[in-house]
Amino acid sequence: MKSYFDLTEDGGSDIAGQVGRQRQRIAEALAGVEHVIAIGSGKGGVGKSTLTMQLALAMERRGRRCAVLDADLNGPCQARLAGLENAAILPGGRGMALPRTSTGLGVVSMGSAVPESEDLDFASVARGDSHVWRATREFNLFQQLLGLVDWGRLDVLLVDLPPGAERTLQYAEVLGPGARFVLVSIPTALARGVVARSAAALRRTPNVTLGVIENMSGYYCGSCDEVRTLFDGPVDTAPELGLPVLASIPFDPRLAAASDAGEPELPRGPAVTAIEAAADSILSGLAERRAG
Ligand SMILES: Nc1ncnc2c1ncn2[C@@H]1O[C@H](COP(=O)(O)OP(=O)(O)OP(=O)(O)O)[C@@H](O)[C@H]1O
Ligand SMILES: [Mg+2]
Repeated sequence: MKSYFDLTEDGGSDIAGQVGRQRQRIAEALAGVEHVIAIGSGKGGVGKSTLTMQLALAMERRGRRCAVLDADLNGPCQARLAGLENAAILPGGRGMALPRTSTGLGVVSMGSAVPESEDLDFASVARGDSHVWRATREFNLFQQLLGLVDWGRLDVLLVDLPPGAERTLQYAEVLGPGARFVLVSIPTALARGVVARSAAALRRTPNVTLGVIENMSGYYCGSCDEVRTLFDGPVDTAPELGLPVLASIPFDPRLAAASDAGEPELPRGPAVTAIEAAADSILSGLAERRAG
């Protein structure tokens, strides 16, 4: 039996040709997209998906054409956040038509194709080997989505990344050197320690990391109309991120409720103000880099 190290050729699969053709398809599909911004962290559960949707809405309110691509294929959240759990991804003019929310935001999420009661089942070649293929198939499916969807003309395509510092790096490779990153953290040493690993991983790539959004920085108490302390542990025991802080967003229970209900437009308050500040920082960061 041959081992991996005995393989000197591609066994006739023309792997280099296949990769080249897929890259070409993706480049063509994204030709009308001005900026790709990946929202990552490394740490799970810190609000990447929630803020991806909120940033897209805030940018749209500022007149930018945006769409959201949910890169979390196993734990997709964008379909629920957008109220598009049953949206069909249908053939369109050039590729697959972009599913849209009632307000017109384009959202592509596996959550529209696979109900929450089911997992995403990647068929395996032999019993018990799916762990070997899973990452490969996952990235392949992600690349197919990127290349198949008719994104049209967009100012910003926001990509909601799954957790994992290592995966953040892999998505940088898949999205290419032009994709910018924004990292989401929360004010705990536990989260910042992991986000610091992602920041370090991204420094090894040509991709620009625009900054970090500090989420859940305080808790907005609606009845007293005040932002109160949520976490007050010793965050300083984690390494500095060495990134500009784009905004600090409080935890607002109305945001969690609206997100669950798939009605992500929020009443005004400190959370929306901070989300808009984050969107403005990101947009001005993009403009500066274009001018510079
Ligand atoms: N600022 C906030 N105010 C209120 N709720 C929030 C806020 N940020 C996130 N949440 C809530 O926290 C939970 C986790 O958020 P979310 O799913 O966006 O995190 P995530 O980083 O994408 O998680 P995962 O790593 O699993 O992808 C959700 O229930 C969401 O509604
Ligand atoms: Mg998420």
